[in-house]
Amino acid sequence: MVEKFSFNINGKPTTVEVDPDMMLIDVIRDVLNLTGTKRGCDNATCGTCTVVINGKATKSCNTKISKVNGADILTVEGLAVEGELHPIQKSIAESGAVQCGFCTPGIVMELYGLLENDPDASEKDLTNALNKHLCRCTGYEPIRDGAVMAQKLVKDRQ
Ligand code: FES
Ligand code: FES
Repeated sequence: MVEKFSFNINGKPTTVEVDPDMMLIDVIRDVLNLTGTKRGCDNATCGTCTVVINGKATKSCNTKISKVNGADILTVEGLAVEGELHPIQKSIAESGAVQCGFCTPGIVMELYGLLENDPDASEKDLTNALNKHLCRCTGYEPIRDGAVMAQKLVKDRQ
């Protein structure tokens, strides 16, 4: 049995007709073809599927579509403005935190959820946010450097 769900995704009003038990990641990737959101573990462990829902970084692999009816959803495709990368994307790229890049969209969205709400987030907040993400390539140092740089750029923009 399918039902209709409506939400804004990357600023665009969108309606889908799907099984209410379908997970948001499946709608984002397979119905809306927004494949920047990555599927890693599919069990809420790795963080690659993170998107921002109503301003909060949220794992899409364990969020049912029925929970986001009427929500504002942002995926990594919605961050750049007229081809200009968001400061968080620039920082993560410039710090060398993108190797295979599979973990990158989830980390960028996590930092967006944190820093857009609280540009003065503490070091501990930053650590807690990054701890939700697994990366098989970088050893994490460049990701941390990128996050610190991102916070500076977001604050400078205020
Ligand atoms: S795919 Fe969602 S946390 Fe790993
Ligand atoms: S850069 Fe490859 S998983 Fe993080």
